[in-house]
Amino acid sequence: MTLNLVIMAAGKGTRMKSTLPKVLHKLAGRPLLRHVLDTTAELGAAQRLVITGHGAEQVEAAVAGPDIGFVRQMPQLGTGHAIQQVVPHLPDSGSTLILNGDTPLISAATTRQLVEACAGEKLVLLTIEYSDPSGYGRIVREGEKVKAIVEHKDATPEQRQIRECYTGMMAAPTAALKRWVGALTNDNVQGEYYLTDIVAMAVAEGVPVVSVKTGSETEVLGVNSPLQLADLERRFQHLQAGALLEAGVRLADPARFDLRGSLSCGQDVEIDVNCVFEGQVVLGDGVRIGANCVIRNARIAAGARIHEFTHIDGETQGVTVGEGALIGPFARLRPGAELGAEVHIGNFVEVKNSTLAKGAKANHLAYLGDATVGERVNYGAGSITANYDGANKHRTVIGADVHVGSNCVLVAPVEIGAGATIGGGSTITKPVAAGELAVARGKQVGIAGWTRPSKKR
Ligand code: UD1
Ligand code: CA
Repeated sequence: MTLNLVIMAAGKGTRMKSTLPKVLHKLAGRPLLRHVLDTTAELGAAQRLVITGHGAEQVEAAVAGPDIGFVRQMPQLGTGHAIQQVVPHLPDSGSTLILNGDTPLISAATTRQLVEACAGEKLVLLTIEYSDPSGYGRIVREGEKVKAIVEHKDATPEQRQIRECYTGMMAAPTAALKRWVGALTNDNVQGEYYLTDIVAMAVAEGVPVVSVKTGSETEVLGVNSPLQLADLERRFQHLQAGALLEAGVRLADPARFDLRGSLSCGQDVEIDVNCVFEGQVVLGDGVRIGANCVIRNARIAAGARIHEFTHIDGETQGVTVGEGALIGPFARLRPGAELGAEVHIGNFVEVKNSTLAKGAKANHLAYLGDATVGERVNYGAGSITANYDGANKHRTVIGADVHVGSNCVLVAPVEIGAGATIGGGSTITKPVAAGELAVARGKQVGIAGWTRPSKKR
């Protein structure tokens, strides 16, 4: 049976008080609308249509994809009017699932349940009981049977007592849906075309109307304001943290944990408070992450320790940290940093597009950019690779067991042979042979009996 998916995303989102269209605001690092698209990717819909209106160009550009169609609704005259716009794009059989771009956490299981219950024959409404139902469309029943949805503003005082609410999500037989939305009027308090009026039409035609009642508020909560967005973000983070804890990851505090992407953890992983994980992060067995780290697109091997306040950003290239490595506190690993086993990167050390072999150390205040660093190299405090000549980047190659003293400048391209020693304060512009000591700095001069200038009277 053909399934069509329609996602309504034309509304303005006035209460966000933002120039960004509401459905592009981010939850856990992804636009609200993107969540709905990701969740429904595996539903097997013949087509996925997004109804855009406010900020249409921006919304369409943000979520465009080969299997996603857009239908514009200008102006926006209500949810029924929104569905009227997609009618020409829908076939005459099968089911249509209607979701909202501002309700990001709807689960794949619930969407499947709606589609299965519909089976191209029934009108299926996703409903929920709220202790405070004000503002929502109420499910009006006669006995067990659903009779209609009445919008809050149009409801009588008695109807306002009903706590079962429409969540804004439904599945309908496509042919009937097309017929019903064609017959909608805007004769109501808000002067809008209400999609919810199709329920009474279905009842009048004798088409079965059923409800699927969800117990999860989180999956049906929509975002209308920054407060609601922040609330939903916390709920989502709490769910993610719960799943990790369940899997054995030791989060110091699930309330102070943020995952904006995917995090895969081995056994005995410990994560202290206030860490943010973005993109794809993989942590091997026994990895420990100190407090206040931000880690994006990185693979950290077993037994590595990332100390407090470390920033790792692999961007698109990624960062890898080898087994048993010690990173931070206050370290910065940038795209293309590939650190071998037992590498030590200490405070205020920046590493970019560089490979460090097993056991190499840069413990304090240093920069390694576009460098290849051999095993056991000791790279002194305050030393840098001058990798950029103002136009091009060049590589620095440092052989195994090299000792680079403090405050050196290695002017790339340059190569330092295995076992060489670079005297502190040297500016190295020429190759250094293996085993050599290279010193390139002004010679020390001693002036005996020197008197310091004194103030004139
Ligand atoms: C709607 C339902 C209400 C339900 C509530 C759940 C109707 C008439 N009412 O009310 O029964 O309890 O959702 O949150 O459907 N949209 C468009 N074009 C429009 C109007 C809206 O695309 O012209 C989109 C919005 O962007 C949003 C969704 O439809 O994603 C719902 O619109 P909204 O205005 O929030 O509906 P409510 O009035 O809250
Ligand atoms: Ca709403």
